[in-house]
Amino acid sequence: MHSRASLLAILLYFVVRVTCSYRQNCNTPKNAIEPPFSPSIIQEINTLSGAPSLVNTTQLIAGINATTLERFLANALNTNNSLPNPIAQTFPNLTTGTINATLVVLPIDYEVAKSIIPSQYGILRESIKNALPGFPEDKYPLVLSTQIDHDIQTSGFKTPDFTSAQFRFPFIDLLHDGYSTFSYIPAIFISNDPIAIAGSEAYDEGTIVATFDPPLDPYAAKPGGERGEVIFNVFTNGVSVLNTTFFLQEGRCGEVGNHPLSFYANVTNQPSFGCANSGCQLTCDNMIRLFYTNITSGAYHPVGVSGDVALAPSEVSTIPFFPGGAKFGGVQGVKLDMAFIENNYKDCGSLRGFQYIGI
Ligand SMILES: *[C@@H]1O[C@H](CO)[C@@H](O)[C@H](O)[C@H]1NC(C)=O
Ligand SMILES: *[C@@H]1O[C@H](CO)[C@@H](O)[C@H](O)[C@H]1NC(C)=O
Ligand SMILES: *[C@@H]1O[C@H](CO)[C@@H](O)[C@H](O)[C@H]1NC(C)=O
Ligand SMILES: *[C@@H]1O[C@H](CO)[C@@H](O)[C@H](O)[C@H]1NC(C)=O
Ligand SMILES: *[C@@H]1O[C@H](CO)[C@@H](O)[C@H](O)[C@H]1NC(C)=O
Ligand SMILES: *[C@@H]1O[C@H](CO)[C@@H](O)[C@H](O)[C@H]1NC(C)=O
Ligand SMILES: *[C@@H]1O[C@H](CO)[C@@H](O)[C@H](O)[C@H]1NC(C)=O
Ligand SMILES: *[C@@H]1O[C@H](CO)[C@@H](O)[C@H](O)[C@H]1NC(C)=O
Repeated sequence: MHSRASLLAILLYFVVRVTCSYRQNCNTPKNAIEPPFSPSIIQEINTLSGAPSLVNTTQLIAGINATTLERFLANALNTNNSLPNPIAQTFPNLTTGTINATLVVLPIDYEVAKSIIPSQYGILRESIKNALPGFPEDKYPLVLSTQIDHDIQTSGFKTPDFTSAQFRFPFIDLLHDGYSTFSYIPAIFISNDPIAIAGSEAYDEGTIVATFDPPLDPYAAKPGGERGEVIFNVFTNGVSVLNTTFFLQEGRCGEVGNHPLSFYANVTNQPSFGCANSGCQLTCDNMIRLFYTNITSGAYHPVGVSGDVALAPSEVSTIPFFPGGAKFGGVQGVKLDMAFIENNYKDCGSLRGFQYIGI
């Protein structure tokens, strides 16, 4: 009897513990944006999308070599491993889709970050401190996103899936107002998809065509690896340029170490811009990523990851920064799937004070 009671007590202890930690980390915040959307949120999103576009997308598509485009569309593959777009019906006339991603923070020296970010723009240090409490003050949180964009729809037109790895420098004071946060994307490895490439080049993001292992997923089990060990590797012209190896922390609802989920929501919702070839044009991608739809919650809640990232030297990667390459060990991040609404080619100035409504 005695041992049975203690067994029961131990069992109860674990049930309570697991339930509590699940509750603690995986609950949807009261003000989160999740379907059904309130009329005010739908209106706000429609207003953002209705702002003028600085790029004529009809001309952008028309500029793609027709033979190449036709061949691509005839052969494009879409993953069946990611869930369908849950908001296409809610916003039938906007560009919506999903991003199944791993987001990790690469802590780089603050001075190195300053040397990479165009010198005319400051970094909102105080905002970093607030969004990422406890992060070392002499470091800067460069965010690497390895991802697949999936089930992309615009007024019924479906753009094929594509894979990418993006280097995102958040908390840029682009408008010199001391509070509006933007993300600088100086480099992106992207699948050989003429639509995605034209889209990324229009932002001047430093677009590098690449192939990926796995080709159509944000990660895959490492062959011969340990349980929960996943990889995502990038190649240009068949040469290895970026390796990532992560361990999934299944019990952790998206929060690892000092990096709360709200940090990733904050950073990935900052309008992004590039300055690769033609100076900074201040054309912004207002990509609204939803962290609480049914593909990001419940059974599909974000999961913490930690692991290693290795980038080849510039002469191999063709990325102008990190000339000698870079290695990061024990970095922390999160893997998650999320729905998005993309408002393309907006005047960055019109996004002053933009906040991800609801986080
Ligand atoms: C975009 O370009 C197309 C083709 O040149 C033109 O017909 C259309 O009016 C343009 N749209 C806008 C909004 O300027
Ligand atoms: C389009 O691409 C095809 C195949 O690469 C090439 O043969 C053709 O010359 C290109 N057309 C134009 C107008 O550049
Ligand atoms: C996904 O499923 C569809 C329909 O069964 C199939 O045509 C397609 O090839 C699959 N995609 C991949 C990448 O396997
Ligand atoms: C995200 O991608 C991974 C790897 O393909 C897959 O196992 C997972 O189910 C996807 N997540 C969702 C919510 O679709
Ligand atoms: C999420 O919601 C959408 C829209 O209601 C629905 O079509 C889809 O099946 C749901 N997905 C999951 C994984 O529950
Ligand atoms: C989408 O556009 C169509 C055609 O212009 C229009 O009839 C419809 O009301 C729009 N739907 C929404 C939800 O705005
Ligand atoms: C992002 O973090 C900064 C710094 O804490 C904060 O000022 C801003 O309100 C946050 N934005 C959102 C959308 O949470
Ligand atoms: C990635 O790993 C492979 C296999 O270990 C190695 O050959 C390659 O050089 C690595 N690439 C980078 C960028 O470190």
